[in-house]
Amino acid sequence: MKGIILAGGMGTRLWPVTLGVSKQLLPVYNKPMVYYPLSVLMLAGIRDILVITRPEDQASFRNLLGDGARLGLSISYTIQPKPEGLPQAFVLAKDFIGDDRCALVLGDNIFFGHGLPELLREAGRQTVGASIFTYVTRTPEAYGVLVRDEARRPMEVVEKPRTLVSNEAITGLYFFGPEVVEMASSLKPSVRGETEITDLIRTYVANGTLAVQEMGRGYAWFDSGTHESLLQASIFVQAIEERQGLAVACLEEIALRMGFIGLDELHAIAASISASSYGAYVHQLSQSLKGKVQGAPSVSGS
Ligand code: DAU
Repeated sequence: MKGIILAGGMGTRLWPVTLGVSKQLLPVYNKPMVYYPLSVLMLAGIRDILVITRPEDQASFRNLLGDGARLGLSISYTIQPKPEGLPQAFVLAKDFIGDDRCALVLGDNIFFGHGLPELLREAGRQTVGASIFTYVTRTPEAYGVLVRDEARRPMEVVEKPRTLVSNEAITGLYFFGPEVVEMASSLKPSVRGETEITDLIRTYVANGTLAVQEMGRGYAWFDSGTHESLLQASIFVQAIEERQGLAVACLEEIALRMGFIGLDELHAIAASISASSYGAYVHQLSQSLKGKVQGAPSVSGS
């Protein structure tokens, strides 16, 4: 299974903040936004990851994430010259995907919830078709939505519905088979002038191979593309971390839990990390595990 983070786009709704920096590198409380979608791919067990950025931002992403080796990952990079639609990610990732299944996550989407790793693993076990993750919203007009029939089977998907057809938003996380590359290559732009991910999903609705994972009341989902949602996401993460003393999207912790790195690697990272609150958390985690048997860490939560 391959993972793709789409981290391009103009970030126009966040101007002037995004005039000088990529949206997906902005902080969400105490870590860069891209850490959150990256943590989702890692929790799905995905280690081979492609990061797609604007040409001018690639160097910054490389500085931040490198080749991923310190987290037991393989991270590569490619450029999207212009934001011509989410499906373009699959066309740009053609060689990277090859014959594998892949997960696409939007670089501004933040997910949190009990049971998230299980939900991701379930989508990862699928061998045919696609998986989407839905979330009830008060503002369906801002998203792609799923319309169901009376038996609650997927019936239609609509991008930015003008009338209320459903309040079940399709979040920015998708699992597809390798056939998605060909399908994406032949899509035509919508009236917005971009190709639409909903046009891809519709094909899977039609052939009955769309799996839908609902993120219920126990989940939080933010697409942090506006000043308001960015602030809300930061406050949410701060509140959870403050109350629990457990980090959201601490990549080093997840790498350890998933078995991508061992305790020795964690100790080495902790020894080199700076004295920020994030660094202190990694350091504390490493200290608490000192002397524990390699491969059996008692690390909690996601
Ligand atoms: O957040 C979930 C929603 O994301 C879905 O419900 C919609 O179906 C899907 O179309 C998308 O809607 P948005 O209106 O949020 O799409 P937006 O154009 O804002 O792009 C989402 C992110 O992807 C954003 O961070 C910028 C990045 N992007 C977007 C495009 C079109 C790229 O990197 N390249 C692109 O070509």
